[in-house]
Amino acid sequence: MDLHLQISSPERLTSVVADTLILIVAADAVEPKPDRHLADTIADAIRRGDFELKKGCTLYVHRPAGVKAARLLVAAAANMTPKGFKAAVAGALAQLKNLGGKHVAVAAAGVLTAEHAEALVTAADDAVYVYRHTKPSAPPPKAFAKLTLLCSKAEEKAARRGLARGQAVAQGVRLARGLADLPGNHCTPSFLAAQAGKLAKSYGLKVQVLDRRAVEKLGMGAFLAVARGSAEPLKFIVVRYDGAPKATAPVVLVGKGITFDSGGISIKPAAEMDEMKFDMGGAASVLGTLRAVAELKPKLNLVCIVPACENMPGGRAIKPGDVVKSMSGQTIEILNTDAEGRLILCDALTYAERFKPALVVDVATLTGACVVALGKHHSGLFTADDGLAAQMQAAAASALDPCWRMPLDEEYDEALKSNFADMGNVGPRVGGAITAAMFLRRFTGKYRWVHLDIAGTAWKSGTAKGATGRPVPLLTHFVLAQALS
Ligand code: BES
Ligand code: MN
Ligand code: ZN
Repeated sequence: MDLHLQISSPERLTSVVADTLILIVAADAVEPKPDRHLADTIADAIRRGDFELKKGCTLYVHRPAGVKAARLLVAAAANMTPKGFKAAVAGALAQLKNLGGKHVAVAAAGVLTAEHAEALVTAADDAVYVYRHTKPSAPPPKAFAKLTLLCSKAEEKAARRGLARGQAVAQGVRLARGLADLPGNHCTPSFLAAQAGKLAKSYGLKVQVLDRRAVEKLGMGAFLAVARGSAEPLKFIVVRYDGAPKATAPVVLVGKGITFDSGGISIKPAAEMDEMKFDMGGAASVLGTLRAVAELKPKLNLVCIVPACENMPGGRAIKPGDVVKSMSGQTIEILNTDAEGRLILCDALTYAERFKPALVVDVATLTGACVVALGKHHSGLFTADDGLAAQMQAAAASALDPCWRMPLDEEYDEALKSNFADMGNVGPRVGGAITAAMFLRRFTGKYRWVHLDIAGTAWKSGTAKGATGRPVPLLTHFVLAQALS
């Protein structure tokens, strides 16, 4: 998509040269007032009952009087916050699917910030994403080839910054979404490793892929235990972006890369099991974030770690009751083979120690319990570090990619007690997202750490089934905030 910024004033919108002019107005008022022709058109539509200044309402006018653009689309936002603006833009862009025109210009009746500009780009890229990898017959997106954001001279600098960040985030989201949408027989651990290699090549990053023998040497008994039921070889992927001096402690991102989660011997019910191809959503979002960061080149060091394998039943698969030794030396009784995410992550979290990280964030479609607790809008945020929690919440707000802090108190740790190992890999059903986080916490004593449970947010089910690319926006904002100034 070709992105442009054009200086214009509310009174000059009528002379903007574009195929379609989109005007976002706040439900409370059309402020500042657009030119008389536009204001009259909107007022007339309201009078005749064709339009309401109410969130979600849109008005389409063909060949609007006194306006150069052949099409005018007015969309009402609940308010002109970046969030309200983004929702209205998304609504307007959805309507474009039924219209002609290649060049779209967007104006907001209100103050435009960097976050508005970023929201426009990510909403636009969302609108034109079509999955085609295994469905080439899918109609190509009715893309708008050119998108122009209209803003005032005073808003220009912020808008330019927002567009650049938006474009990087959108590319990261697109990568994550594209990978997560791929079926399990296409997106194998080897495929993920190859994608990481491609990414590294095009951005000049360092990549390292460990195979089973290397992982055995490191003593990653928990990761190996999960992978052993599958005929697909495991991959342990490490990619790094160096944007700061060597001595600068890196930010480390760890993404759960289960390319298919059948549950293993503790096999899952058949209904919706196909959605477990999305169980590498954490890995996809870590690679997507890496891409966004590599685009923007901030002054920081970033290491991305992806343990990737399948979780399958079979003659060689781990069984309930098996005890394995993790890389940390702690032993684990595998009471449920379907709690595999924490098993591959715990060894990756121990491996992360070697980078002497400034902080570590792990991202995982970890528990169904998190979806029960938070639904599909907020990712679960777990950390004992109030400072990091606040930073993550600030990133969520500016990226419009929400998360919600969950408890991580000592009391929950008891649930992991085992008579046969240092810990079991599951607790009771209640508080399942928290005990999963408590399990991971036992491997993170050497650095500052945040865990994100994205089981509810990484993909959508039902007729809209597909990956979301979340939490790439959240992670990108969070990582960028760690840059040296
Ligand atoms: N990948 C799943 C978590 C999941 C389930 C995400 C459903 C989204 C929707 C994870 O590996 C898993 O199976 N977790 C178990 C843990 C349980 C056995 C303690 C779960 O949530 O049921
Ligand atoms: Mn599982
Ligand atoms: Zn899983």
